[in-house]
Amino acid sequence: METSTLTAMYGKFAAVKAVTLQFPANQVHALIGPSGCGKSTFLRSLNRMHEMSIGGWVTGRVLLDGEDVYGPGVSVIQLRRRVGMVFQRPTPFPTKSIYDNVAAGLMLEGKLPRAELDEIVERSLRRAALWDEVKDRLKGSAIALSGGQQQRLCLARTIAPEPEVILLDEPTASLDPQGTQRIEELVFELKKDFTIIIVTHNMQQAARTSDTTTFFYLGTMVEHGPTKQIFTTPQNEQTEAYITGRFG
Ligand SMILES: Nc1ncnc2c1ncn2[C@@H]1O[C@H](COP(=O)(O)OP(=O)(O)OP(=O)(O)O)[C@@H](O)[C@H]1O
Ligand SMILES: [Mg+2]
Repeated sequence: METSTLTAMYGKFAAVKAVTLQFPANQVHALIGPSGCGKSTFLRSLNRMHEMSIGGWVTGRVLLDGEDVYGPGVSVIQLRRRVGMVFQRPTPFPTKSIYDNVAAGLMLEGKLPRAELDEIVERSLRRAALWDEVKDRLKGSAIALSGGQQQRLCLARTIAPEPEVILLDEPTASLDPQGTQRIEELVFELKKDFTIIIVTHNMQQAARTSDTTTFFYLGTMVEHGPTKQIFTTPQNEQTEAYITGRFG
């Protein structure tokens, strides 16, 4: 996935300015930067969620397999199956069961044969490292799960349609250290199959999990490079100030 001079507006205010970036497949890409610098807006522009914000619109291009996701004739529903998203707070469908939450991720118009659906639900829960904890209560309520389990359920729901890219917006912000560690392990595991773009305020998390890191500041991309380089020899003063905790 890549962006070309992507600008994202709320009405007349540009929250993200002319960002050109490439996210090679099967890697983890971290987005860091102080609060309000446009990370979430940028992420939401990648699967056209930003359009759902009041006044939200974009210019520039977002290419998925070389095709502009803002091009004419692109189905937004199809796009969001290919570019899935998990948010800061777990967002399971509260009235649906665990099973139905995962199945909902498929966003199908027609019905799949039951056996096939069962298989996809089980596989997705296994890949989200949740199966063993919920296999005996699949019909039970999703909101009876712990926060960390709910977040893995949301990950299972996102994985179910076999996306190409998974967007994670501070996925561990509401979790305890153990829940955080599980998600980080999963991120590492899942990059074999998916391209992952993760927003995080946790510098250790970015350093531990990602292959590339991009530093955003005031809506622009300040520096992008291999994670190791960004954290050891940043080229930009603002990047260095941020990662060493001198601001933000
Ligand atoms: N729905 C909205 N309407 C208008 N302006 C918005 C909206 N959402 C965000 N903004 C503005 O856009 C800018 C970028 O916000 P964004 O949420 O993308 O930042 P962020 O880097 O994700 O911050 P945080 O780290 O706090 O999550 C901010 O100035 C914010 O006030
Ligand atoms: Mg944000």
